[in-house]
Amino acid sequence: MEDHSVVTTRTSEEAFDTAADIFAGVACEAISRHGQFTVALAGGNTPRGLYQVLASPRWVEAVPWQEAIIFFGDERDVPHDHPESNFRMAEDSLLGKVPIRLENLHAMPADMPDLDSAAGQYEQKIRDLVQPGDNGLPAFDLILLGMGADGHAASLFPDTPALDESHRLVVSQHVPVLGRHRMTFTYPLINAARCVMFLIAGMDKAVPAARVLGDEHSAASLPAGRVRPTHGKLIFVLDPMAASHLPG
Ligand code: 6PG
Repeated sequence: MEDHSVVTTRTSEEAFDTAADIFAGVACEAISRHGQFTVALAGGNTPRGLYQVLASPRWVEAVPWQEAIIFFGDERDVPHDHPESNFRMAEDSLLGKVPIRLENLHAMPADMPDLDSAAGQYEQKIRDLVQPGDNGLPAFDLILLGMGADGHAASLFPDTPALDESHRLVVSQHVPVLGRHRMTFTYPLINAARCVMFLIAGMDKAVPAARVLGDEHSAASLPAGRVRPTHGKLIFVLDPMAASHLPG
């Protein structure tokens, strides 16, 4: 893997602080460069630690939230007030505590009756609001990702059709291992970002993290390993447990 950086920390708390520092730095650079900060938030549990840090008194003014335009990289097929909703997790731990403009907050409509149409509408909103990069695709200033123990990223799960999507930027798919539908960014959109940051924590991620950060063949065997920004930065922040199987 060419242009990427790996930050391993001594504690999980330090991983959240490090990710917060990178998040704030990317936000400030984006706003000074083009007057806005377009960001796609991650779901699951790990990002909660980062969101709580960003909402804390020490950090709450580090990000110019008024200029942030916020999307989600994936979402579960539940209402946004459901306990399993990624939107609700982010709202409870961060978005309800920082001064964002509500018109700049774009929840992912993953519980609509017609999921394909909803995915297409979300994609169009991204195309309308996120400035294009060199390849003409919407280039988020930052896409935040986690990684599952099976090596999935966003809702790009192993052996699912979304892995092969090369045109649509947002799709909805049934994920057999979950028995549920998920809506997700696809590789064309993720890899068009100016910066992608993985925040990975926990012993159950150690083996997949070592594979994703291994040689190209090893990395390509997992969905997270196929995240390769074509022009942007790729940053991995790992806590000591997730980093425990890395060489050296
Ligand atoms: C989701 C997330 C998903 C998450 C991984 C890791 O909807 O669950 O978007 O991709 O990042 O499953 O989840 P944890 O961080 O909770 O281990």
